[in-house]
Amino acid sequence: MAPYSPPTAGRAGKLRLDFNENTVGCSPRVVEYLKEHLAASDLAVYPEYAETRNALAAFLGIAADELLLTNGTDEAIQVLMNTYVDDGDDVLLLRPSYAMYRFYAELAGASIREVDYRPLDLAFPLDELLQAIRPTTRAVLLANPNNPTGTGVSLRGIEQILDRASHAAVLVDEAYFDFSHVTAIGLVRERPNLFVSRTFSKVYGMAAMRCGCLVSQSENIEFLHKAQSPYSVNALAAIALRAAVRDTAYVDSYVKEVLAARELLYEGFRKLGIRYYPSEANFVLFCAGDRAVLLRDELRTRGVLVRDRSYEIAGCVRVTVGTREQVRRFLDELEELW
Ligand SMILES: Cc1ncc(COP(=O)(O)O)c(C=O)c1O
Repeated sequence: MAPYSPPTAGRAGKLRLDFNENTVGCSPRVVEYLKEHLAASDLAVYPEYAETRNALAAFLGIAADELLLTNGTDEAIQVLMNTYVDDGDDVLLLRPSYAMYRFYAELAGASIREVDYRPLDLAFPLDELLQAIRPTTRAVLLANPNNPTGTGVSLRGIEQILDRASHAAVLVDEAYFDFSHVTAIGLVRERPNLFVSRTFSKVYGMAAMRCGCLVSQSENIEFLHKAQSPYSVNALAAIALRAAVRDTAYVDSYVKEVLAARELLYEGFRKLGIRYYPSEANFVLFCAGDRAVLLRDELRTRGVLVRDRSYEIAGCVRVTVGTREQVRRFLDELEELW
């Protein structure tokens, strides 16, 4: 396996437009709530999850036994793989997509096949994916919207995948749901092969806490639970999550800001004559040609972090959309370098 070492070092103090995080931080109410629960006696006990699970289930409109709390989406993917995929099993992924699908599929010993996003517009390759599903396919993992393409698949498309892969575990990773508002959670009760993941690392601004969840039918959750270590979500993450789902106004206003900033970013790209791929999430891929790596490095020396993706989509760089002020700063630097 190739190691997966994301460039997370030396980011402090820079404009972080490289990991699709919330660029201003989590709700202040989360921090206050955490402080209230920081007594020595709180930290001395193993985590209890019932209150958090109930709060999150109510927030998502599901029953508590349809939910698995996880240490970020990454653990959700890992537990799903450990539960359903054995050595040599056929696993279908899309390319390019979130690196951890391949990572955990490889760890599980899966035989991996990948379907490419459409080269012209990076649209979801629904027909190609449907054709690639075999009777032996054990799992299909997709992100909606997808990272790094920013493109999504409709609920109708997801239903077609679920029909065709009725014998496989289908993961729909909704890490960027808050920007697209397309969710498959409403399908879970009628679809026994569907697993939907959510994370608090992105719009909620809690990447450091490592919390996420999987939603599926209760029988599936019971199986997944068996393959999960009992305390993988730490108590502070579980506490923070309760406060996070209460402060929906904070997330709503951040999403509004990002959507306005994304328009500003598109406008800036157009002005500079830079090609970009319209996105349903809080990041945008743009084409820097053979200067992609150099541009990433030059922006870094000016204190602005972006991600080079040219190794998977020729010439492309991914920039996270923050606030309008942050996007203006990025565009100013870009204009000088372009
Ligand atoms: C599609 C997708 N899923 C999940 C994650 C990470 O989620 P978590 O921090 O919850 O493990 C990312 C982060 O980049 C992502 O792009």
